[in-house]
Amino acid sequence: MPDPGNDPATAPRTFRIAAIPADGVGAEVVAAGRAVLDALAGDSGGAFTFAWEEFPWGCGYYRETGTMMDEDGLERLKDFDAIYFGAVGWPDVPDHVSLWGLRLRICQSFDQWANIRPVQFLPGVRSPLRSADEHELDWVVVRENSEGEYAGLGGRNLSARGHGGEVAVQSALFTEVGCERIMRYSFDLARTRDRRKVTSVTKSNAQQYGMVLWDDVFRRVAADYPDVETESVLVDAMAAKFVLNPQDLSVVVASNLNADILSDLGSALAGSLGLAASANLNPERRFPSMFEPVHGSAPDIAGQGLANPIGAVGSAALMLDHLGLPAEATRLREAVAATTAAGVLTRDLGGTATTADVTTALIDAL
Ligand code: NAI
Ligand code: MG
Repeated sequence: MPDPGNDPATAPRTFRIAAIPADGVGAEVVAAGRAVLDALAGDSGGAFTFAWEEFPWGCGYYRETGTMMDEDGLERLKDFDAIYFGAVGWPDVPDHVSLWGLRLRICQSFDQWANIRPVQFLPGVRSPLRSADEHELDWVVVRENSEGEYAGLGGRNLSARGHGGEVAVQSALFTEVGCERIMRYSFDLARTRDRRKVTSVTKSNAQQYGMVLWDDVFRRVAADYPDVETESVLVDAMAAKFVLNPQDLSVVVASNLNADILSDLGSALAGSLGLAASANLNPERRFPSMFEPVHGSAPDIAGQGLANPIGAVGSAALMLDHLGLPAEATRLREAVAATTAAGVLTRDLGGTATTADVTTALIDAL
C-alpha cells in the first residue's frame, strides 16, 4: 500500500529498526517477520540491510522491574528508522497497565496519529463471507490514533464513599486539528487507490458534541477533494456494512475506539485476526513510526508454535513502504499470497502449518 508521506530519495540504505516483541505470540511473530525481512535484504544484492536492536520490554520486564519499559526508553527509541512491535499483554498484569505502559505510551509520545489497517483477502483462505473474493475485497481502515475515546482523560474518585460508591469519568477528546489531519491523510490515501472513496464512521446521532465536530470537519475536508467520493455511516450500521456490503469500501476513517473494533471485524472477515497488519504512523516523520500486527499476545496459543505470522509480515510490508522500498513491500505481499494459495496455513485458518512452516514458505516464495 503506498504511503503518501514517503520520500525514497532521502531513505537511508541501512535501516535501524527497534524490535519490541513484548509478550506471548508477539515474540514468535516478530521473530518470523525478522527472518523474512532479513531474507529479503539478503536477496537485495547489498542494496539494503536491517540493523536490528531488540528491547526486552513487556509484562515479563514489568514483573522483574515494576515498569513496562525503561525510564529513558522513549529517548532510546526516538532515533530509529522504525519500530517493529509484537503484542503486549499477559494475564498476570492488568491490561490497562501493560497497554498504557508500553504501546500507547509509544504511540502517544511519538505522535503516531494515523493507524493504518488494511484488510487483505488472500487466496486459499476461506472467508466467512461466502461470496468473498480476494479480487473484489480490499479496504483499509484509517484509525485516529492520538485522541478520541483513548485520550486517557478522566479519573476515578469517591472511593471513600465505601464499597459501591466509587465513580469514574472517561472522556473522549475530539479536536479540529486531530480530526482534520486524519481525514486529510485518508483522502490523500484514497487518491492512491483504484477506488477513490472515503467512508467516515460516525455516531453523531448519539454523541452530539465530539462526533458532530467530526462530521463537520469531514464535510469541510471533503470539499477540498472533489475527485474523491464520500460517505458518512453510523458505526453500528457500519458493522453491518462490513459484512453485507464490503465491496462498497475503500478507505474507512474512524475514531480511535470505532476503528479499533471495526478493524478486528474486518480481519476476522478476511479469515483471521492473525492476518491483520497495521502501521502507527507519525506522518511528519518527526518520530519513528511503529509497525505491528493487529492481534494481541494470544495467551491461549502462545509458546506452541501455532501463531500465524502473516499479520506481522504484512506489518513488515507496511514498514517497507514507509522506508521507501515499495517494490520490496510488493514482493513480500506476493510471497504472502503465494504461501496462502499453496495451502500453507496455520491452525487459525483451518490448516496444520506451524509458525516456522509458514516462515519457511514465505522465505522460499521470495
Ligand atoms: P488476542 O488478539 O491476543 O487473541 C484473540 C484470539 O485471536 C485468540 O483466540 C487468539 O488465539 C487468536 N489470535 C491472535 N493472534 C493470533 C495469531 N497471530 N495467530 C493465530 N491466532 C491468533 O486478543 P485477546 O485475547 O483479547 O488479548 C490477549 C492480550 O493481548 C491482552 O492482554 C490484551 O490486552 C492484549 N492485546 C494487545 C494488543 C497490542 O499489543 N496491540 C492488541 C490486542 C490485545
Ligand atoms: Mg484492537
